[in-house]
Amino acid sequence: MKVVSVINYKGGVGKTTITANLASEMAHRGKKVLVIDLDPQTNLTFSYIKVEKWSSDYEKNRTIKYWFDSIIDGTRPIPTFRELIVKKSGVDLICSHLGLIDVDIELAAGLSAGTERQHRNNFIKTYSYIKNELVKLEQEYDIVLFDCPPNFSIVTKNALIASDYYIVPAKMDYLSTLGINQLKNHVDSLVKQFNNYLKDNNKNITPIFLGVVATMVSVRNNKPISAQQTYIQQLRRNKINIFDSMIRENKTLYADAPEYGIPVVCQNVSSGSTYEQVILELKNLTTEFMGKVGI
Ligand SMILES: Nc1ncnc2c1ncn2[C@@H]1O[C@H](COP(=O)(O)OP(=O)(O)O)[C@@H](O)[C@H]1O
Ligand SMILES: [Mg+2]
Repeated sequence: MKVVSVINYKGGVGKTTITANLASEMAHRGKKVLVIDLDPQTNLTFSYIKVEKWSSDYEKNRTIKYWFDSIIDGTRPIPTFRELIVKKSGVDLICSHLGLIDVDIELAAGLSAGTERQHRNNFIKTYSYIKNELVKLEQEYDIVLFDCPPNFSIVTKNALIASDYYIVPAKMDYLSTLGINQLKNHVDSLVKQFNNYLKDNNKNITPIFLGVVATMVSVRNNKPISAQQTYIQQLRRNKINIFDSMIRENKTLYADAPEYGIPVVCQNVSSGSTYEQVILELKNLTTEFMGKVGI
């Protein structure tokens, strides 16, 4: 089982879109896929499930928030991830919840107290919740994807600590490229601190940065417009890995997708050059991703 976080501090850069399409395409290719929506905005959840269905069947006790709440409260049995999973068109999903934002505040309270040793132990415990739970699913999935919120919260850090790899969908503009360095540095510090506190080299974690996925690329004559090429080259110069496969901007295709609950890559499109190219990009990205992850 390989575990991958999809992360960027910025919202609206295509994290959820990339996650859903990778997940569905890998499932289509016969892989056992689990996606976990960690964003309180719940976009990934609602790209698979209708809001009404989520409210009636899942909101109360079948979301990642319910799981965290059970840990924090300690007054009811903690569900296993298996009990939370919802099966949707070949993909297994753990739903998010708008109230997930409060979970972070609760978890932070648990981190602050005590002596240095208590702090160290709390740190390891609080950031390992997801990692420790996922171990139980080791035999059941080829790949687990986390759709992370646009921040570096305790929930996001839980995902990274549990991950073998992470990818960073990003737009190719000035601020986005700046943000990627910062994000990588923050992940490096987190990993260093975690391993330092563990004091057991055999258990060290090493989430590997797989690369930036350039999204919403403006394409002209089948290549990124020159302004964006500059940023792509700048990333390469700074030795930041970037996937060869890039995802072009296509408002019509991508904007409609979540409403129908079907990721673009699964849609039955009538032939037409743009449609086919968009789908091909997503398939190429999936192939490249699977190669890098080794599944
Ligand atoms: N390649 C694309 N071209 C055009 N619109 C896109 C593309 N990818 C995503 N979108 C749209 O942009 C918005 C933000 O994408 P989303 O995946 O939700 O970003 P994030 O998860 O990073 O906040 C959504 O409305 C989505 O449909
Ligand atoms: Mg999102």
